[in-house]
Amino acid sequence: MKVPFYGHVKQYQNIQGEIDANLREVLMSGQYVMGPMLKKFEAQSCEYFGCKHAIGVGNGTDAIWLVLMALGIGPGDEVITHPNTFFATAEAIWIAGATCVFVDCDTTTRCIDPAKIEAAITPRTKAIIPVHLYGQCADMPAIWAIAAKHGLQVIEDNAQGIDGRGDTFRQGERSAAVATSFIIQKNLGCFGDGGMVFTNCDEINATVRKLRNHGSAQRDHHSFGFNSRLDDLQAGVLSAKMRHITAWTDQRIALAKRYDAGLAGCRHIALPVCRPGYRHVYHLYEIETRDASRRDALVKFLCDAGIDAKTHYSIAIHKQAGFPWGKPFRIAGSVANAEKNAASCVSLPMFPELTPAEVDAVVAQVRAWDAAQG
Ligand SMILES: Cc1ncc(COP(=O)(O)O)c(C=O)c1O
Repeated sequence: MKVPFYGHVKQYQNIQGEIDANLREVLMSGQYVMGPMLKKFEAQSCEYFGCKHAIGVGNGTDAIWLVLMALGIGPGDEVITHPNTFFATAEAIWIAGATCVFVDCDTTTRCIDPAKIEAAITPRTKAIIPVHLYGQCADMPAIWAIAAKHGLQVIEDNAQGIDGRGDTFRQGERSAAVATSFIIQKNLGCFGDGGMVFTNCDEINATVRKLRNHGSAQRDHHSFGFNSRLDDLQAGVLSAKMRHITAWTDQRIALAKRYDAGLAGCRHIALPVCRPGYRHVYHLYEIETRDASRRDALVKFLCDAGIDAKTHYSIAIHKQAGFPWGKPFRIAGSVANAEKNAASCVSLPMFPELTPAEVDAVVAQVRAWDAAQG
C-alpha cells in the first residue's frame, strides 16, 4: 500500500463547502487585503486560543522577527534557542539583526532543555525562543521561571504546536508572544503562506500591527515598517478550518496511539515521548533510529515500499553550510543531543485524514526493517 505524507486534498474535499463559501464571501466583498475576513479570523483566533490580540501576518518566520523587532531586539543582542528546529527559527533572529545562541535539546522531548539555558545567558541576552517541536509544548514553566529571574522576553515558536498545551499551562500565558505558521503542511494550514502573532501585550499588538502594514496605523501616516499581511482569502480558508482543529488534533492523537501500540517492542528505534498531561498535537510523528548510521537506510526502505517517510530536520542549523559571511550564532556548551536528533530522526506519515489501515501498513514496514536489523 502507498501511504502519502500529507492529506491536503482529502482535507479540502472533506470541508469543501465551508471553505468555498468563505472564499466566495471574500471574493464578492471586493476586500482582499486587511478586509473583514481577516478581522473575523483574528477575532475567532483570540477566542479559540484565549489571548487578547491575534495579528495575521505573511508567514511564521515574519511572526517571530516582527515580535523581536517590536521588542526592540536587534544588533548586539543575543537570543537563545536550540539548533534541532526548522531553519526559520534562527533565520528570524538573524533577520532582526540579533545573534542566535544555540543550547541543547532535552533527550526525550527534543524541545529546548531548560537546564542548559542559564549557562548560556550573558549581559547581551534579551530573549528565549522555545520551539514546540513536533507538536509538544516545551517545558514552559521552567523557561518562564528562568526568563523572570534574568529579565528576558519569551517568544514561543508555535509553528508546529498549534492547539497544544501543557499539564498546568496554556501556550503564551506568561510569554511576550506566541508566533505561528499557517503554511499548508501545518496542523492549521492555509492554501499558501500565512502566520500569526498572539499576544496579551497591548504595546506588542500595536507595534506588530503597524510593522506588518508599512508602519501605518492610519492612512497616509507611516513609520518604518514592512509588508507582511495575512490576506483575506487565506484568512477565509483558515476561518473555515479553525472549526475543525480540535477534532483534527484528537484524530492525530488517536493515530499516534495506534503507531505507539504497533511499534512497541521495536529494538532499533525510539518512539516519541509525550510528557504526562500534555496535549501533544503530533504535527509530526517522529521516531529515531537508535543507531544514527542506519537512519538513511530506514528512510530508503520505507520510501521503496511506498511509504512517504521524511526527516525533520537532518542537518542541525549550526551544521548548515550557508554562512559564507561568518557564523551568525554562538554555541553554548554541548549540543550533542540536538546533533543526535538530527542524525537519527525519521518522520512517519501523520495527518488527520490518515486511515488506521494506512498506519498499520506503515507499522508493518517499520517492523519488517526493525526485525531485519538483528
Ligand atoms: C518550527 C518552525 N518555525 C518557523 C517556521 C516558519 O514558518 P513559515 O514557513 O510560515 O515562515 C516553521 C515552518 O515552516 C517551523 O516549522
